[in-house]
Amino acid sequence: MHDTAANILLAACAYNGADPKRNHHLLKVHNYCRMIAEGEQLDAHTRFVLEAAAALHDIGIHEAERVHGSTSGAYQQLEGPPIARQLLAPFALPAEDVERICWLIAHHHTYSPIDGIDHQILLEADFLVNAWEEPFSDQQIRHFYTHIAATETGKALLRAHYLPDIT
Ligand SMILES: [Fe+2]
Repeated sequence: MHDTAANILLAACAYNGADPKRNHHLLKVHNYCRMIAEGEQLDAHTRFVLEAAAALHDIGIHEAERVHGSTSGAYQQLEGPPIARQLLAPFALPAEDVERICWLIAHHHTYSPIDGIDHQILLEADFLVNAWEEPFSDQQIRHFYTHIAATETGKALLRAHYLPDIT
């Protein structure tokens, strides 16, 4: 893994503090992103942006709860980018990378339209984790598999974890 991506993961975990549930979640989503990025042969730069977005995708959750009394996706998407910008500042990334990472954070609950392979993979990775954590129903998983999942690697992971009847 890129050193900077590893350090962004550490910064996200440090921001969350002693919150194993949130930290386990982001580490799992990050790892699925890496697996799918590898399978889909993403270029190194797109992969880095995706990994940073994965580390920070839910970073607005505490602030959403504090300010709005809700962890709903819409509030997380609103509160996440400003916190991400603060956490990313020490890494001195190119401005366009920070913008893309923040855009991905702000759209990680947006299924339509899906804009770009990084967005697609982040949605798939988050769904792979949430399907078990929430959990989602068999019907919800099949709907996502049929209508939202698009990468071969993401679909293979969904089949392997949740849909063994689909070959
Ligand atoms: Fe998430």
